[in-house]
Amino acid sequence: MKSMYIHIPFCKSICSYCDFCKMYYDEKMVLTYLDALKKEIDSVYQKEVLQTLYIGGGTPSHLSKPCLTKLFKIIDTFPFEENYEFTFECNIEDLSLLLLIFLKEHRVNRLSIGVESFLEKNLNFLNRYHTKEDVFLKIALAKQIGFSNISIDLMYALPGEHLDDLEEDIDFALSLDVSHISLYSLIIEEHTKIQIENIKPISDELDLKMYQLIEKQLEHAGYVHYEVSNYAKKGYESIHNLTYWNNNTYYGFGLGASGYIDNVRYSNTRSLNHYVEGNYRYQEEKISQELEMSNEMILGLRKLVGISLDDFYKKYGKRVEEVYAIQDLLDAKNLEIEKGYLRIPKDKIYVSNAILVRFV
Ligand SMILES: C[S@@+](CC[C@H](N)C(=O)[O-])C[C@H]1O[C@@H](n2cnc3c(N)ncnc32)[C@H](O)[C@@H]1O
Ligand code: SF4
Repeated sequence: MKSMYIHIPFCKSICSYCDFCKMYYDEKMVLTYLDALKKEIDSVYQKEVLQTLYIGGGTPSHLSKPCLTKLFKIIDTFPFEENYEFTFECNIEDLSLLLLIFLKEHRVNRLSIGVESFLEKNLNFLNRYHTKEDVFLKIALAKQIGFSNISIDLMYALPGEHLDDLEEDIDFALSLDVSHISLYSLIIEEHTKIQIENIKPISDELDLKMYQLIEKQLEHAGYVHYEVSNYAKKGYESIHNLTYWNNNTYYGFGLGASGYIDNVRYSNTRSLNHYVEGNYRYQEEKISQELEMSNEMILGLRKLVGISLDDFYKKYGKRVEEVYAIQDLLDAKNLEIEKGYLRIPKDKIYVSNAILVRFV
């Protein structure tokens, strides 16, 4: 076990599109939650040396100083490998000199920042309350404090968004010169404000054009497209997220978190009451070898490099072609093999879901 995810489900305000496990910030509730979180971690974590730790949310950066101190009292005891990656998710509004110094002093070496867009009309639609100027100031500040590994999240395919708008967003994002950029096409999730308001998605045709524009501009700027929605400067691919896509095990702690330990995939409850009472788990599934191989394919083929055929054989004692009939996919150029890797060709990654269903 080399990776751990910790979920902090509290936010100052709720975004119109958000389907994550989150609730309004309440200081007393946060302190109670952190007690329960410590109990969950203490009961499961075997003190292995961690390669990656990811604190996500919700909005971990919104925690007050007493709450942050309480959270890091738990984390400060974790042993890390020499080349560890410790990511802390932040919203722009929360980034202050004091917070950044605190995170730096407590071993955080990667920030994942929800920028979403630089354009006022997009930010209004998403219910996000920062400005383009805030983004530039805060990211410059983070760099000044010494954070060299910064990832930003952007969203596109918003209703009314044109290719020109996206191009503007991409230009601003590139001018930040950060090491990692994730770009997500808007999903209209059930029970979100935008779904209740009956907002309609943009056309598939425009969505594809946007996807292609992103790939063209980011690659031109020197970023490597390494996963469906993720781009990194060479050497800055997210080690933590690669744990998921490589189908490796990881701890997941906190409300609504999921994890994969000892051949069991689990999700925690989304009920705060259940969680603070110590009833952490909501669902557990023992992973058979058949399911493990299926996950290996579905997760691994999200990476542009694909999956190593040798590694698959070493892990399962079977060749991919013995387990799955893939010849027709190869013939139709929906899959290709290069240098021992099976992958979805770059021009088909956009429709990867349609190909991945074959491995379900
Ligand atoms: C785990 S969330 C980060 C949560 C964090 N509190 C924030 O808002 O930045 C990671 C990213 O997923 C993206 N995302 C969230 N909901 C989405 C949706 N409905 N459709 C597309 N992307 C979404 C956003 O870019 C978000 O920053
Ligand atoms: S998108 Fe992030 S900040 Fe917004 S409500 Fe969801 S978790 Fe909170």
